[in-house]
Amino acid sequence: MTMAETLSAGMSAMQARRLLAGLLREDGIESADLDARLLICAALAIDHTSLATQTDRILSAVDAKALSALATRRLRREPVARILGGKEFWGLPFRLSADTLVPRPETETVVEAALAAMHDRRDHPLRIADLGTGSGAILLALLRELPRASGIGTDLSAGALATARANAADLQLSDRAMFAACDYSAALRGPFDLLVSNPPYIESGDIDHLQTDVREHDPRLALDGGVDGLAAYRAIAADARRLLSPGGALVVELGAGQLAAVSDIMANAGLTPAAQARADLAGIPRALTLVVAS
Ligand SMILES: C[S@@+](CC[C@H](N)C(=O)[O-])C[C@H]1O[C@@H](n2cnc3c(N)ncnc32)[C@H](O)[C@@H]1O
Repeated sequence: MTMAETLSAGMSAMQARRLLAGLLREDGIESADLDARLLICAALAIDHTSLATQTDRILSAVDAKALSALATRRLRREPVARILGGKEFWGLPFRLSADTLVPRPETETVVEAALAAMHDRRDHPLRIADLGTGSGAILLALLRELPRASGIGTDLSAGALATARANAADLQLSDRAMFAACDYSAALRGPFDLLVSNPPYIESGDIDHLQTDVREHDPRLALDGGVDGLAAYRAIAADARRLLSPGGALVVELGAGQLAAVSDIMANAGLTPAAQARADLAGIPRALTLVVAS
């Protein structure tokens, strides 16, 4: 039976949601229930609250065709965020493009750690640089929380920078956010109160073994951390002392198992941990805050 025959006109939104969730689950997609809800909302062009009040709504032929098309893409392992063209991060909507990583929930630990590092200066005119900004997620989340801060996001990808600029405009942060094509911080002049980065940290040889959702849909430039996964940390560490203001902090996201190796790279560059690495919801040390060693 084809997807179009399975999800057909005449069924209710509730029936379609259950059927789709079952199809996704049978295919091994763990987030089947959530994905089904998001895809039905997208096909019917309604939000979650409206879906809850429209469970008896009967799908038209147009609705069923739209839903079938979205379901087919998900069954081919395209991530829901890619299908929808956007993802929520730090409670804010971010649009995506083929050139941007889908922001991950664990990256919110970087935002938390950066805010903790600046907790007594939240109202100051802080200067922030986000190295490898992608969609602009980290920088824009910080600017939302720090009302007098301004910042620059750098990336090698022109497409990512265009998306980040669009996100800044959507979030009405364009007056405090700049974006520039740059190899991490190579072209920046300090001082910065905060350097933040979620750099590419997957070992090159591991990329072909990642889940299809990631391997085929996140840009390789956003994933590939070189032979040992640590190339970006070396580049960022080399520049950090030059750029940090007195009292400033560098916060980097870590890949699983990278805490010791990244700490060593930072120590060799004269940077010392300011706090224990912040763990994500899975208990993995995820955000490391560093300051210039005295
Ligand atoms: C893991 S993604 C993080 C994106 C975003 N900050 C986030 O957390 O969702 C890494 C980003 O670094 C960018 N990148 C890769 N190499 C770079 C380089 N040499 N200089 C600047 N950015 C780079 C990629 O294009 C990508 O946007």
